[in-house]
Amino acid sequence: MGNIMDKKERIDKIIASQGLATRSEVKAMIKRGEVVVNGVVIKDSGTKACYSDEIFVDGQKLFQTKYTYIMLNKPEGVVSATDDKRYKTVVDILPDDLKRKNLFPAGRLDKDTIGFCLITDDGEFAHDILSPSKHVTKTYIARLSKSIDYEQAKKSFHEGVILGDGTVLLSAILEQIEDGGTPIYKVIVKEGKYHQVKRMFLRFGAEVTELKRIAIGGLPLDDSLKSGEARLISADELKSIVENDERF
Ligand code: URA
Repeated sequence: MGNIMDKKERIDKIIASQGLATRSEVKAMIKRGEVVVNGVVIKDSGTKACYSDEIFVDGQKLFQTKYTYIMLNKPEGVVSATDDKRYKTVVDILPDDLKRKNLFPAGRLDKDTIGFCLITDDGEFAHDILSPSKHVTKTYIARLSKSIDYEQAKKSFHEGVILGDGTVLLSAILEQIEDGGTPIYKVIVKEGKYHQVKRMFLRFGAEVTELKRIAIGGLPLDDSLKSGEARLISADELKSIVENDERF
C-alpha cells in the first residue's frame, strides 16, 4: 500500500490540495518565489515533491511531517473505530494513498452522524483535542424533530445542561439557524460525552434527526470534500484547531 507522505506529486497540486489557494494562484506564488521545498526556492510549478518534504508557502510550513492528520467528511452508516465486525469504519473508507499504520479516529461520531472526523496516528494530539480541559470546541449542526423553547434552551446550554442521568455538562453555545417544522440549530460544545448533543436536545423534548459536525476548534470542515472524501490537514490548519474560542 502506498504511503501518501512518500508519494511524488506536482508541487502545485500538493499545495492546492490543502485548500490554501487555487491551482492558478499557487502557480503565481511559485513564479513569485514564495514556495520553498527542502530549503530551495521552487520556480517551476511542475516540480515533483513529496508530502513528507519540508514545504514552506509564503513563509508558512505546510505540513507536520512526523504524524499524519486527516480530515474525513464522514458519511452515514460508517463507525468511528479502527475495526468492526459488522460495519465499515472511518479508517476502512480512507483512500489507499492516505492509509498508513496506526491511524485511528480522534473521538467518536455516532454511526448516523456525518461530517468532520479527524483521523490521526498522533495519540498525544488526539488526547489534547478530546480533553475537556483543553477547551477544543466541536461545532455541530442539528436538525430537530420539533421546535423547542429556544431562549430557555440557549440559557440552559450556556449554564450547563444536566442530562437525564444527572451528568452536568460544561457550558455550550446554542444558535438558531432555521425555525419551522424541523428546526435547525448550531451547537458548540467542549466535550464529547456519549450521544451528547442528542441527549442535550432530548432534555428539551426534541429528537435530533440529523447531526453533522462542521468544525473542530477553529478548523471548519472543508466544504469541497464530498461525503466520504478525505484529505491531509496542513500544519497551519492543525494550529487553528487548538486556537481558543473567545466566546467561552
Ligand atoms: N453528539 C451526539 O449525540 N452524537 C455525535 O455523533 C456527536 C455528538
